[in-house]
Amino acid sequence: MSDAYERLLSSVASTAEFIEECIKEDNLLLLVCHNDADALSACGIMVGSLWRSDARFLARSVNRVDEFFQQLDEGSAEADCIIFLDLGSGYVKEIYNKVGEKKVVIIDHHQPQSFDIPKCYVHLNPHFEGLEGATHISASGLAYLVSKALSEDNYVYSPIAVVGALGDLQDKDSQRRLGSVNAKIVEEGVEKGLIQVTEDLILFGRSFRPIHAALASTSSPFLPGLTGREDVCYSLVTSLGIKVKDGDRWRVLADLTEEEKSKLYNGIISFLTSKGLPASNIAKELIGAVYELTEEDRWTYLRDAREFAWLLNACGKTGNAWVGIAIAAGVRGNLLEEAQKLLEDYRTQMAKNMELLTRPEAITSMEHTLVFNGGDLIDERQVSSLASLISSSGMIPQDKVLIAWARHGDRVKVSARANRSLVERGINLGGILSDVANAVGGRGGGHNVAAGADLPATALEQFLKEVDKRIGSQLGS
Ligand code: C5P
Repeated sequence: MSDAYERLLSSVASTAEFIEECIKEDNLLLLVCHNDADALSACGIMVGSLWRSDARFLARSVNRVDEFFQQLDEGSAEADCIIFLDLGSGYVKEIYNKVGEKKVVIIDHHQPQSFDIPKCYVHLNPHFEGLEGATHISASGLAYLVSKALSEDNYVYSPIAVVGALGDLQDKDSQRRLGSVNAKIVEEGVEKGLIQVTEDLILFGRSFRPIHAALASTSSPFLPGLTGREDVCYSLVTSLGIKVKDGDRWRVLADLTEEEKSKLYNGIISFLTSKGLPASNIAKELIGAVYELTEEDRWTYLRDAREFAWLLNACGKTGNAWVGIAIAAGVRGNLLEEAQKLLEDYRTQMAKNMELLTRPEAITSMEHTLVFNGGDLIDERQVSSLASLISSSGMIPQDKVLIAWARHGDRVKVSARANRSLVERGINLGGILSDVANAVGGRGGGHNVAAGADLPATALEQFLKEVDKRIGSQLGS
């Protein structure tokens, strides 16, 4: 990795120089980002860094790639330079066709489209240096490296880079721990005393939340029947003979002995097995590195980096992206209260969505794909998070790709997820969704493990059949 990392740092330095030049020329910068946790983290980091540099800028978040093309029509004219964050690599040609020879910076980790960019464009993407963008570094990690190249003082954003990477599930490879470039960013945060890493059960709030409440708020992995159900979690914990209080004080996960922890772990697995779930898939998701952000107040939803990512997703996926960007940039106070409320509502909503989407009648099984039909019941902005939740809940057989979709007007939003072993066997969802969506009049793209698309509703059946066929041919069957 070290050569690739050095090359990445050199591209980061050129990107930062380009932005610095724009700032010196008093350019108006327009930041355009997607609306998930990684994108909002990336945007927050850039907003905070540009603020500190006294730059003139605007920031916008979009739900869909097409939305950003529409917004470009509306807002790009007055901007001197457009900085795309967590989107753009797969659509360089379309961007060029829209904005032409204006200054453009793309900071993205999705599979890049091959296209010769003009001199006034800078395109930063880890794939160019041989680093896989789904696991080595996310958009927030890239934005962090750029911000640090602008000023060393921007190390304060290392926790936000970690939040973004966890939001994008980049901890899936080596026992739920961030690796590669992400791990270097974690190290920087640890050295500066901003991040504390502990190997433990991955329950949200291990050091500050009562055990049953930590279990109920855990959403990565999503624990069907437990996530969002504090009452059930309380019964489970007490039925295992684990004391929930020490005198007047609630005990937290960090207080438990090793023996109590293994009791709890086995109890969770038995509970899931009793619900007919393939608990062994979830079991390996339950233990790993816990990232605690030491500068965040205890009892807030920002203290645990995975929960922070959920809070940002809650903001982005309910039309409140600006709240998430401001929180990621460092704003707290009343805005944090608003964001925490959004997270509470979002958690409840997602638990309801999971119930709807995982009813047997909502699921269609194809040869290589399990399709979760959201129809009009699910908010299309939440399909992506639902797909990630379902894939982390162990419900998908190891040999199948998951596809979830929901309708919005005469279009459908599709999200696809593959497990690592399918990717090792040659599956590249980003490529498949891009090709097949294009062929049916839509747009798609992403990573090998996770990709999305938006297409005309009338083309859905044809799209699903073709995707299933393409998965089959990539698997050689
Ligand atoms: O939409 P969803 O989150 O399911 O997509 C998975 C990944 O694919 C995300 O990182 C998203 O940014 C990317 N994507 C893309 N082009 C699309 C849709 C999604 O690059 N048209």
